[in-house]
Amino acid sequence: MLLTDDSPSLSRAIDPAFRRDIIDGLSRSPKATPPIWFYDQRGSELFEDITGLPEYYPTRTETLLLQRHGGDVGAAVGAGRAVVEFGAGSARKTPHLLRAIAPAAYVPIDISRDFLHASSAALAQAFPDLPVLPLVGDFNGPLHLPDAIAAMPRLGFFPGSTIGNMEPDAAVDLLRAMRRLLGPGAMLLIGMDRIKDRDRLVAAYDDAQGVTAAFNLNLLTRINRELEGDLPIDGFAHRAIWNDEKARIEMHLEAMRPLHFHVAGQCFRMAAGETIHTESSHKYGTRDERLLLRAGGWEPTQEWTDAEGLFALVLAEAG
Ligand code: AVJ
Repeated sequence: MLLTDDSPSLSRAIDPAFRRDIIDGLSRSPKATPPIWFYDQRGSELFEDITGLPEYYPTRTETLLLQRHGGDVGAAVGAGRAVVEFGAGSARKTPHLLRAIAPAAYVPIDISRDFLHASSAALAQAFPDLPVLPLVGDFNGPLHLPDAIAAMPRLGFFPGSTIGNMEPDAAVDLLRAMRRLLGPGAMLLIGMDRIKDRDRLVAAYDDAQGVTAAFNLNLLTRINRELEGDLPIDGFAHRAIWNDEKARIEMHLEAMRPLHFHVAGQCFRMAAGETIHTESSHKYGTRDERLLLRAGGWEPTQEWTDAEGLFALVLAEAG
């Protein structure tokens, strides 16, 4: 059963937050832009393609963990919880969880209204007895959960290693905000990508077919289209590097020659070899991931990982 509020979509208007983030990001040194802006229609499609690449192990591994250990998760969290998913997107992993735990309601949260409503409708059809209450919003901002789940204990679901996009201080802030939002007695099931062999990590973000390169470069196409930009797409190259000191993969767009271009009426220059840092994807060791959760107000209780230790699903309770 799908329950939505039907306020009109404003998705065609120019987004002032997008303009601000891009102008600020290109004005700073070194240049850096937030990864949330990858996900326009084309970017979301390219990300879906990434999840199926042979080199991109996280989605496949996490899905396997949910299938294999859903019963354990169900036993640990009990029936009758409201599942609140942060950044639900296509919600492809969600059915595995919902089947395993007998929830009382499902609240997917996502910034993309169209994407959210399409995936919510599909889920509501697959789970006809489950109240599905989509919430359009940025999980990094203030949120108000639907009144319909006021009396239910909650399970936060934050799959995909999305937490890895955040710097550690922002990750801790977000975990604390989730803890406040979900309330006492809440639990959290979170996917975290492990530190591993450098070549394996780099390959996952620089695949042979060039899908991740297209995903990274699509940001420039989006800027040109939505912010009256004239960035020369062929003047940039995709780079994925492992920053060992910070334990993260960084994606950059590197200027292949001296460039000058405009965005929203402002002029920018780049030297050959200069980059725009477009994304960080932090990886966690077994102790790192527990420390991060504890710093965020969550006590880890169980975790599941694959035989190679590529990826971890961690269950925690509100501390
Ligand atoms: C969606 C943030 C989990 O960091 O692995 C995939 C995004 N970027 N390939 C990740 C991404 C390039 C992805 N997250």
